[in-house]
Amino acid sequence: MRFSLASALLTLVPLAAAWPNVMEMDRALKKREEPPPRNPTFKSGRPNTGASGPALTFNARDQLVNVGSGSGHEFRSPRSGDIRGQCPGLNAAANHNFIPRNGLVTTAQTIQGLGDAYSMSPDLALLLAVVSTALAGDPVSNRWSIGGRFTPTIPIFPANGIAGTHNQYEGDASIVRGDAYLNGGSVGVFQMRSWEHLYQLAEEYTMDVIAAQSDYVTRWSILNNPYYFSAPFSGLVAPAAHNFVINFMSNHSAENPSGFLTREVLKSFFGVTGDAPGQFVHNRGQERIPENWYKRPFSNAYNIPNVLVDVQTNNLMYPGIIRIGGNTGTTNSFAGVDLTDLTGGVFNVGDLADGNKGACFLLQASLAGLPDISNPLLGAVGSVLGWATQQLGPLSSKFSCPQLATFDNQLFNKFPGASYKGSGNA
Ligand code: HEM
Ligand SMILES: *[C@@H]1O[C@H](CO)[C@@H](O)[C@H](O)[C@H]1NC(C)=O
Repeated sequence: MRFSLASALLTLVPLAAAWPNVMEMDRALKKREEPPPRNPTFKSGRPNTGASGPALTFNARDQLVNVGSGSGHEFRSPRSGDIRGQCPGLNAAANHNFIPRNGLVTTAQTIQGLGDAYSMSPDLALLLAVVSTALAGDPVSNRWSIGGRFTPTIPIFPANGIAGTHNQYEGDASIVRGDAYLNGGSVGVFQMRSWEHLYQLAEEYTMDVIAAQSDYVTRWSILNNPYYFSAPFSGLVAPAAHNFVINFMSNHSAENPSGFLTREVLKSFFGVTGDAPGQFVHNRGQERIPENWYKRPFSNAYNIPNVLVDVQTNNLMYPGIIRIGGNTGTTNSFAGVDLTDLTGGVFNVGDLADGNKGACFLLQASLAGLPDISNPLLGAVGSVLGWATQQLGPLSSKFSCPQLATFDNQLFNKFPGASYKGSGNA
């Protein structure tokens, strides 16, 4: 079966600090509504290498991620001053020195470190790093933070870190973290409810299993968060992060070259200990790459078009995983925003039929949310937006993207969640 972007999009619901001692507030959330069970329209049967297709090779030497003593990648808990945030993949990479242990990263370090640790493709790492830097980092020193704020070279940049990007980068309906509005503005509060839901879905996790979790958390947020909002870019990031779990955390072997993901390995990457619902403990900042773990082959590196196709496939299985819009101030009041209206006609559902156009939408949606701060230190490119456009230029030409669309953000005025910024803390 082939999943086209066109048919996936036709099922679109109208388009749509460093490390503070935040109390884990899950207990306060007991009186919430659970969405009813829902079956997928079909099962995709995708391998754990997702849309890049099955892996045809296994090479133990290339794929072992050596975190043993003497490797230089030993696990070490973050020390005082080290920044960690809401992303388990980045926290684990920093805890093992694949990216700097202090949590401040350059683009080159992102590409190298995430390639080495997870076989993330250079194009995907570049995009994620440039967006992090432009939204919440320092384009002059070319650094960004995997958690809360840091001191930029010149004080005009909002160097808030990715924890300070609610509805720009970070979004509601995350796989395990709670919605900012329901957690005192923090974006990284572990939700035992979500974790236990995920845990009980399977003993071995696949793309189809994670799609079910993505559907569950989306419907849960709509039912319970009056400020639920899904922006054009962050509304794709949270669903894509679900697929990162399968694509980047699975273990690989000669018998199973496309990978398999056990509960033990999942717990290690998420910093969870304990063996059963009611007994789990989340250990903040302790995300860990397991010993004897083999990443996906680099020949199957996970890239930008793969990310889009996997999210689209999940949305075909469970229409509504992708949506642009939000609740209008009360729970369960979701209203959507039309993609064609939003982009002044540059993108429409039919247009997005091929993978490159989907990638272009992602690139342009990421740029649409950027601050347009000017500074002479940025040289000829002049502004943060100019800098990011230049950095992403090679990707934009690779995918033959149309002229930059301006997004009509006025369409978001009726959603109170759209302007809610959160506290900037993980
Ligand atoms: C430069 C690379 C990366 C950046 C900038 C990044 C950024 C983010 C951001 C902004 C979020 C919040 C999204 C949301 O609201 O749900 C997030 C969540 C997440 N990321 Fe990453 N990420 C990166 C790489 C990775 C990698 C390599 C993995 C897997 C190994 C990963 C796995 C996840 C997961 C599972 C979540 C959801 C966490 C939860 O809800 O508990 N990410 N990431
Ligand atoms: C990964 O798979 C190999 C082969 O089955 C196994 O020997 C190894 O222990 C697994 N690693 C983890 C962390 O489960």
